[in-house]
Amino acid sequence: MTHAKTAELLRKPELSNEDIVFLLGLRDPESCRLLQEAAFARTTELMGNCVYYRGLIELSNICTASCRYCGIRRENHDVKRYTMSKEEIVAAAVWAARSGYGSVCLQAGERRDEKFIAFIEECLIEIHKATVSSVLPQGVGVTLSLGEQTPETYRRWAKAAGCPESLRYLARFETSNPELFKVLHGARGDHEKQLEHRFRLLADLREAGYQTGTGVMIGIPGQTLEDLCRDIRTFQNLDVDMIGMGPYLMSEGGELQDFGQMDPEALMQLSLNMIAVTRLVMGPVNIAAATALQAIRDDGREIGIEYGANVVMPNLSPQQYRAGYQLYDNKPCLDDEPTQCASCLEKRIASRGRRVGWNMTGSSRRWLRRNGRPDEAEPAGGLRVGQNDAGRKTIWIRAG
Ligand code: 5AD
Ligand code: FES
Repeated sequence: MTHAKTAELLRKPELSNEDIVFLLGLRDPESCRLLQEAAFARTTELMGNCVYYRGLIELSNICTASCRYCGIRRENHDVKRYTMSKEEIVAAAVWAARSGYGSVCLQAGERRDEKFIAFIEECLIEIHKATVSSVLPQGVGVTLSLGEQTPETYRRWAKAAGCPESLRYLARFETSNPELFKVLHGARGDHEKQLEHRFRLLADLREAGYQTGTGVMIGIPGQTLEDLCRDIRTFQNLDVDMIGMGPYLMSEGGELQDFGQMDPEALMQLSLNMIAVTRLVMGPVNIAAATALQAIRDDGREIGIEYGANVVMPNLSPQQYRAGYQLYDNKPCLDDEPTQCASCLEKRIASRGRRVGWNMTGSSRRWLRRNGRPDEAEPAGGLRVGQNDAGRKTIWIRAG
């Protein structure tokens, strides 16, 4: 009986590769429920009850990379390219801070030119200045998701961000299978992507003081359960602090349409199993419920939370830019404004027995422990909602 074996594996203190492959492949509802309950309980035990918000600002879709799965790859000439102005970016971050979000995530296509590096630096300096408050003494936390850069650039941006306790960088390695990685990343020459570079980059980021995050895509054509097991082992070997994983979804603007995409229901379950097993193996890391889950099912992110995720990234990009940032087809919330996303999400999170960690930096506990710091306590007086709806109490006070 599959569920009897599942129950037995979930009692083991450590999972072997064979156990991991078995759990990743679960499909019958009873076994999946057991896995879900184990992962949720482990998350509560290790991470508490809060889900942290990272307000996502997709600041530019100009990209020099050619990832074959991605809808904003440089070869896709059907996309209208945009870059938000510094004022727009800072305003989005200030809105997040005022609304009780502990941190924002700046994401964009990959660029390594000095003009871009300096632009991000200026944005970071201004975001910091504008968001230091008694509630957020270091300003709003910053997560960067800006692709492969040099160690010097990481250091420049770290300094500009001015929030050493809540400074994070996300760079997924997408798959630990070198052959598959090659298939996914076409370009050669200057912009060639190599798996080893991704691993090196994570070490560089740690050295520059970032909490480091990585992740993979789940259900890539040709990927096996053994590949996903190796991905989890790679998270372990890299000792990362944060993980963001989502289903691979076909993109009109990509180059992989001929390979198709997994059946949505199977893809959803595989993605959830991956989140749950990663939680069981990796312990107190932050795991994001990727927006791509919501592209398959409207409540995809909430189910991700039930399977062990503890971070969500509400989209703060102004509505006029959203159509330009379609990494995959059917990306949700194209017509929403940030305020709508935030309040709708809070209800959704509460519906799954968690609450939003308003004004908390939400650092990875694995990182806190590695750095000899205590777990973050909830703010004095408990968690209070943001001021995103008229009539709610203001919790954000500008310093000075
Ligand atoms: N499906 C799912 N995720 C994708 N990403 C890019 N394209 C796709 C796609 N077609 C993810 C990659 C990248 C992140 C920014 O978006 O994992 O690291
Ligand atoms: Fe690399 Fe978009 S071009 S993820």
